[in-house]
Amino acid sequence: MRHLLEMDDLRPEELARVLDLAGIASPERVLAGSGVALVFEKPSARTRHSLEMAVVQLGGHPSYITGAEVGMDQRESVEDVTRTLSCYYAMIGARVFDHQTVQRMAAVGAAPVLNLLSNRSHPMQALADLLTLKQEWGHLGGQTLAYVGDGNNVCRSLALGAAMCGIEMRVASPAGYGLGDEDAARVAALGGKLVRTEDPDEAVAGADAVYTDVWVSMGEEQVAEQKRAALIPFGVTSALMKRAATHSVFLHCLPAHRGEEVAAEVIDGTHSRVWRQAENRMHAARGLLCWLWTEAKQS
Ligand code: CP
Ligand code: NVA
Repeated sequence: MRHLLEMDDLRPEELARVLDLAGIASPERVLAGSGVALVFEKPSARTRHSLEMAVVQLGGHPSYITGAEVGMDQRESVEDVTRTLSCYYAMIGARVFDHQTVQRMAAVGAAPVLNLLSNRSHPMQALADLLTLKQEWGHLGGQTLAYVGDGNNVCRSLALGAAMCGIEMRVASPAGYGLGDEDAARVAALGGKLVRTEDPDEAVAGADAVYTDVWVSMGEEQVAEQKRAALIPFGVTSALMKRAATHSVFLHCLPAHRGEEVAAEVIDGTHSRVWRQAENRMHAARGLLCWLWTEAKQS
């Protein structure tokens, strides 16, 4: 049984196929008569609603379930919640605090599990990011993507996805907040090129795209002050964007904090593609669900 807990759960050719399927606006209703359980331990605007609509477009029924309602490891174990939901639903998506929770759900082996964001990864976001870049560039491979800011879940999944598509990724973060050696090894295992630096100018120089995310992720409230202080020099400003290629685009997974990780004139300016990126969450989710429920079952 296949799951999507992180980007490299897909082979590069499968990722390419998912992106192709994402481009089919009126797909076969492969989920007719089936449902997808969507469990959220944290808030969401894009992930919840893009997944709900993707399931509807495939003819299925999405069910939004709060973490508090099913009480994973409180009312009953993560494993028993998973077994229960798999009695009714074809697939289970979960947004969790601890990445081990989605690993435990997948280990049950009762239904395909999608990671809808954990502290470690956000593969559904990376799929939409790559779809956006593919639309922008016409093809993926040979470009340079600069990520400036916190080396977090979004950054990690994007780095793996970029490696799988032949895109060089440069990550600029303050000391202690960058991607780790383990991440670099995982990118290298995919044949990717990852540059890690503490200098935003170095990362952005000539880049085809510039990406950032919030400085304080959900669940990190207790370290918010120290992270904000460390990340102040890593805001994406107009001056920084001028160092990128003239045709460069700006991406952000959202929600954004204007005046913190990105200046308003950048995210609301002509280089920004953040709303196409947000829309692409739905198309990418539809492609992934379609692949997981049809082709992945046969492979
Ligand atoms: N980008 C993203 O995952 O947004 P939400 O937290 O609103 O789902
Ligand atoms: N890194 C952010 C992404 C939100 C979509 C978080 O985990 O809160």
